[in-house]
Amino acid sequence: LNKKQIEITFVKANGERDTVKGSIGDSLLDVVVNNNVDLEGFGACEGTLTCSTCHLIFSKKDFDQLPNKATDEELDMLDLAFELTDTSRLGCQITLTEEMDGLEVKVPATINDVRA
Ligand code: FES
Repeated sequence: LNKKQIEITFVKANGERDTVKGSIGDSLLDVVVNNNVDLEGFGACEGTLTCSTCHLIFSKKDFDQLPNKATDEELDMLDLAFELTDTSRLGCQITLTEEMDGLEVKVPATINDVRA
C-alpha cells in the first residue's frame, strides 16, 4: 500500500520554485533528499539536529499550523542559522501531515553548517 503523497513547493532565494511530492510521515528533509531537490548543503547532518542547514522559512499561517512546536534542541540549533525569522524551523524536525498539501516553504539564501 502506497502512503498518501502531498505536494510541497520549495522556493529558493533566487525565486526558483521546485514542487515535489512527499509521503505523509516523512520529514521535509526526507522530501528534499528523496526528490533530489537541488539545495546546496541542505541537510548536512542527516537530521541529527547538529547542523541547521535544513533551515526553512514558513508563512505565518503555515507556521502556526505546524503539528509540532520546536524543541529546545531545535531552537538552539536554529539560533545558529543565518537569516533567522520568527517563522523559521528546521526541515528535519517537521513531519508531513495531510493538512500540509500544497505547502510552500522558503529556503534561505545562505546555509550555515555549524559543524564546519
Ligand atoms: Fe541538520 Fe536538520 S539536517 S539540523
